[in-house]
Amino acid sequence: MNVLIIGSGGREHALAWKIKQSPLLGSLHCVPGSAAISELAECPEIGQEDHDAIFGYCAAKNVGLVVVGPEAPLAKGLADYLTGKGIKVFGPSRKGAMLEASKQFAKEFMDRNDIPTAGFKVLYSPAAAREAVSANRNYPVVIKADGLAAGKGVRICADEAEALAAVEDFMEKRLFGASGAKIVMEEFLTGPEASVMALTDGESALLLPVSRDHKRLLDGNAGPNTGGMGAVCPVPLTGAEERAVTSEVIQRFLDGLKREGISYRGVIYAGLMLTPAGPRVLEFNVRFGDPETQALMPAIKSDLLPLLLACAEGRLEGKELELTGGTCVTVVAAAAGYPDTPEKGRPITGLYAPEEGVQVFHAGTARKDGAYVTAGGRVLAVSACGADLSAAREKAYAVLSGIKFEGMQYRKDIGL
Ligand code: AMP
Ligand code: GLY
Repeated sequence: MNVLIIGSGGREHALAWKIKQSPLLGSLHCVPGSAAISELAECPEIGQEDHDAIFGYCAAKNVGLVVVGPEAPLAKGLADYLTGKGIKVFGPSRKGAMLEASKQFAKEFMDRNDIPTAGFKVLYSPAAAREAVSANRNYPVVIKADGLAAGKGVRICADEAEALAAVEDFMEKRLFGASGAKIVMEEFLTGPEASVMALTDGESALLLPVSRDHKRLLDGNAGPNTGGMGAVCPVPLTGAEERAVTSEVIQRFLDGLKREGISYRGVIYAGLMLTPAGPRVLEFNVRFGDPETQALMPAIKSDLLPLLLACAEGRLEGKELELTGGTCVTVVAAAAGYPDTPEKGRPITGLYAPEEGVQVFHAGTARKDGAYVTAGGRVLAVSACGADLSAAREKAYAVLSGIKFEGMQYRKDIGL
């Protein structure tokens, strides 16, 4: 089976690394891919927006499965288009992708289907939003831009002034363009967070081991929000939390898909807050988490390819997952200036074949004169597996300490 992955980041590098190990794999391809991914896959010069060219490539290379990494192509209907042409796709339909592309759609879907989430209001104009802010008595309050905003469209507002500033930034200054045409104002929840992902063909779901992202830039959860500075997989849930995730989140999600006629063959990601009253869904993503995937892939022992194919073909029921055991820790090395204005083009040294059980996934690198240089905000993700958390941490940080580029920043407390 020939496989085409869509995407270019650390998540896609990890997916390519895992799929490459499948005995069922023929050739591996990636659009647009990256310098590092091109060591594992053929990366033709095709844009991920160019649906016709992607289809043409699939036909020419006899691709049996397309695995879509990021949300943007899904929100633009790539899965619907390719499926319509007879190509098997791991990745939901455009309507399914609305669960990530519109916070309003996601919140109302959860409301209709009784999936536990924070209380909310949708506001359609700056005037209505200001009125809702002045009527609000509970702070902090959370304000979210409706549309995609690369993880920056969420503000925890400590008081009325901050809430009004968020309304202005999102709805009037349009910091995230049309994504701020509507906003969601949401009850502030507390508790540890967990990333729950499940493979699904729309009928059944196969729960993947739970992971945890570290979203803030600095140690001790300080500094600005980022795309994610590290991850751990698996993280333990209590029995009650696990039961709530299965019956109140995943099962109701599946029931909702059916009730609402949404075609969904891919992975669903529920970003949870484990509140004292039980898990609450903060957000849905319609794709694998990044950097969670970099910690998840090495934790899976089973061949991933037949599972992805089973999702795409609607025969996931009864499939099982075998884990390697132990814990995997992923530490992200980011460029100076990240998350605002990352410096690029700095040479990276120390990228030798790492020891057994350690993978260095590339999130933002390029090749220049035969050597790797930085080319993005998040540059590398070092993933290490160990018998337990502390062994995995030790390995990850040992490998990371040998890798250098000017201005490199990373958190020292991933997994703690
Ligand atoms: P989201 O993109 O919706 O997951 O939000 C990004 C981050 O904002 C989450 O990982 C949480 O840390 C925080 N957050 C989002 N919604 C809430 C909420 N209702 N209460 C508290 N924190 C939240
Ligand atoms: N790690 C969070 C995300 O993938 O959106």
